[in-house]
Amino acid sequence: MPALPASNNTTSGRVVSSHPRWLRLTHWLNALAVLVMVSSGWRIYNASPLYDFSFPTAITLGGWLGGALQWHFAAMWLLAFNGVAYLLINVTSGRLARRFFPVSPKGVMQDLWAALTGRLGHADLSHYNQVQRLAYLFVMVDIALLVVSGLVLWKSVQFATLRELLGGYERARHVHFIAMALLMGFVGVHLVMVALVPKTLWAMIAGRKERV
Ligand code: HEM
Repeated sequence: MPALPASNNTTSGRVVSSHPRWLRLTHWLNALAVLVMVSSGWRIYNASPLYDFSFPTAITLGGWLGGALQWHFAAMWLLAFNGVAYLLINVTSGRLARRFFPVSPKGVMQDLWAALTGRLGHADLSHYNQVQRLAYLFVMVDIALLVVSGLVLWKSVQFATLRELLGGYERARHVHFIAMALLMGFVGVHLVMVALVPKTLWAMIAGRKERV
């Protein structure tokens, strides 16, 4: 059976870079920030575990609690400012609406089924299928939640309203941890998807001209 295009694709005939330079830059800075934040966060967690386990020291960053906090606080600026830049450019250029919408339960199920049965086309990298759209929208919201709950843990007195919105300091710790775990779930699936369609990796590194 022939490969199906992702649902809701439309083309106007213009040729643009499917992965413009600002996107590649913000994507890789974000990946670096996430790596530092998560590995130092695990070391911070180990100093006072919230659940009945700790992370192996070998996969944590910072060496000790003080060192890990320094890494965590340094990378949080990169994660937050880079994320704001990515969102601002995406929203103001209209790319967010074009690339990530529409997305509907029906469209996601259709594209998921097409992917599972090997009928989803990957020829046009300028269009995300609805499973990708949902995953990328999810991770944007998840990282925003990580930043907001992180602010509460960092300055819980100054961000008292945010703290109460999250249900208090202790609840904010759980929110922060669960959002981290969901982010790791996303990264795991994301890396498998990239490995299955490796040409997307080169496009995200070097850019690629596409007809839109
Ligand atoms: C660590 C956290 C990461 C996050 C949160 C993340 C998030 C994202 C997001 C949101 C997009 C869509 C960007 C857009 O079009 O606006 C994307 C695309 C992409 N990411 Fe990541 N990413 C991460 C790490 C990585 C890593 C480590 C790799 C490769 C080894 C990678 C490879 C790619 C590729 C190739 C694409 C383009 C996919 C396509 O064109 O279909 N990402 N990522």
